[in-house]
Amino acid sequence: MNNSVTVIDNRTGKSYDFKILNGTRGPSVVDISSFYADTGMFTFDNGYTSTASCTSSITFIDGAKGELLYRGIKIEKLAEENSYLDVCYLLLNDALPSQEESKKFDLELRHRSFLHEELLELFKAFPSGSHPMATLSAAAAALSTFHFNHLDMCNESEYQTMARRIVAKMPTIAAFAYRHSIGASFIQPDITRSYTENFLYMMRAYPGGKMHVDPDGERSIKEIEIKALDTIFTLHADHEQNASTTSVRNVASTGAHPYVAISAGISALWGRAHGGANESVIKQLEMIGSVENVDAFISRAKDPEDEFRLMGFGHRVYKNFDPRARVLKNLQVQLQDELHLDSNLMQIASKIEEIALNDEYFVSRKLYPNIDFYSGVILTALKIPTSMFTPIFVIGRTVGWISQWIEFKKSKGTKIARPRQLYLGK
Ligand code: ACO
Repeated sequence: MNNSVTVIDNRTGKSYDFKILNGTRGPSVVDISSFYADTGMFTFDNGYTSTASCTSSITFIDGAKGELLYRGIKIEKLAEENSYLDVCYLLLNDALPSQEESKKFDLELRHRSFLHEELLELFKAFPSGSHPMATLSAAAAALSTFHFNHLDMCNESEYQTMARRIVAKMPTIAAFAYRHSIGASFIQPDITRSYTENFLYMMRAYPGGKMHVDPDGERSIKEIEIKALDTIFTLHADHEQNASTTSVRNVASTGAHPYVAISAGISALWGRAHGGANESVIKQLEMIGSVENVDAFISRAKDPEDEFRLMGFGHRVYKNFDPRARVLKNLQVQLQDELHLDSNLMQIASKIEEIALNDEYFVSRKLYPNIDFYSGVILTALKIPTSMFTPIFVIGRTVGWISQWIEFKKSKGTKIARPRQLYLGK
């Protein structure tokens, strides 16, 4: 058979043909969906390093080239030319908005940013001091209790409303989770502010929503901070079938409510091998303490007997510079210039980067700095508390998760996600 792969079972000499499918970009895939029926065997792929779990037309990554496209548009171009909300529109609608569509979308999200008063009680039920990621996951799931009856699982316009609603509310949920974690009263959204400014406002304002009392002081919001955070949201908006998105799709495959699928995505993102790495990067830089100690920690990262890993380095897909990291590296330089930053953490980070990019261990394993290596340093420069780094990732990624959820729902012939195992027990 042309365009197929033949598998020969050396025990019996039997051969089996499997079709090769071609995408519009990226490697071809071998369709093994009939593998078990044909051969009586399963395939084994620890951590899915060689498995495509779905078809998708949202995001494309070329890990060897270090390229990332949302709906066919390069991430660098989107980060430079578009707002995060335009990127949300693009992911949800497969086209950038016109000026009018952009305005309408923005306005709708501003109005949808409020939370039901009864949901506020949920935040208060958690001990103050709890990590905002745990609260975020619970609050996202709880949102399904407020919007369950309105969801017609067969109606696309309801999907879209449901999507815009959670994108609009996630900054409010994140800000409330943070304020509760420090024992501060909630600041309601202000619809006169843009998406990103509003989030900073809800986090930073004094009780009663007082802001701009001291424009140069700690708690005001600078234009450059809004632009930087907006870019960070854009860079995090989607990343094809990563661990959290796969969790969302797995939950979607059982037919559960989209907001509990998002809640599962948030939980998966929290781990330090995934989105939690941005928090770990800063903790690690603080642990290293000074530029003089960098060499010793690099040696630990290279020691196979030591479990220590350099946080913010390496990626399952990128075997080249993470394109998002490149955008953030430039942003870091810009912030350093405009906000006159030259912190100890930045010096340690650039020393690590310099050594790792030239060290044989990292070079031969193609371990480059990833998005989390830079985002942590930038968020610190924006005076964002460390516990909010991963929630900020959540705000950016929610649109990606929900776009993938919609795509899953609209795809024909999807099945419940149900892998098999190689049993080694009694
Ligand atoms: N520091 C030191 N060595 C590393 C690192 C690191 N950060 N990452 C990978 N390696 C080494 C491994 O020890 C292994 O070496 P070996 O071949 O001698 O055994 C080799 O590189 C391959 O590593 P794997 O763990 O097999 O790679 P995998 O693709 O499974 O893991 C991951 C990718 C989880 C991102 C890994 O690189 C890592 O743990 N990085 C640190 C955490 C991090 O930054 N996560 C954020 C990822 S980006 C994101 O989710 C937004």
